[in-house]
Amino acid sequence: MANDDLTSADKDVIHQSLEKASEKLGDITPLVYRALYSRYPQAEAHFKTKGAQYKESLEGSMVTDALFSFLEYFESPEEVDIVFKYTIPQHEELDIPLVYFYGLLEAVADVVIDAQPADDREEAAASWQRLLARLAHLVEKYAETDPGLPQSACGGG
Ligand code: HEM
Repeated sequence: MANDDLTSADKDVIHQSLEKASEKLGDITPLVYRALYSRYPQAEAHFKTKGAQYKESLEGSMVTDALFSFLEYFESPEEVDIVFKYTIPQHEELDIPLVYFYGLLEAVADVVIDAQPADDREEAAASWQRLLARLAHLVEKYAETDPGLPQSACGGG
């Protein structure tokens, strides 16, 4: 099986890992932004582009949208394709570097993986990596300019 094949076993692993993460952490949002802003401190300002008063609610909805995209990908990849088709140019119009957009997806995955018991972590990381690679492809597909994603993002590393 090619390393980037996403299977129904991955779907189960992703679902279980999300359940475990929410049992252990409750709301993952604060940890997601801690991870994102420690990697990309300048990403934070972009949540204030609509006004500082909307920052928290935007941060919350982007995590919800990221989780939706991950889970929906197993049900209907076509629908996630459409979401990205519209939302990637929208983020580019707002001058949000797509490396931050992808960074948020990665931060969600990292927080969930870190919350797994040590014995399950490797398997969870492999499934998340395959799923992230699919979404990285969609970012690249709909970006109007080179999004400059990390080399490993599309499963090449
Ligand atoms: C650092 C990364 C990100 C930043 C700074 C960001 C910021 C924003 C901003 C400022 C808007 C405009 C809201 C408005 O017009 O009222 C927006 C909209 C949107 N974003 Fe993001 N976003 C990020 C990542 C993501 C990710 C990873 C997803 C999902 C995969 C996502 C999904 C959406 C969607 C669906 C909308 C349009 C609908 C809505 O307003 O909720 N965003 N984003």
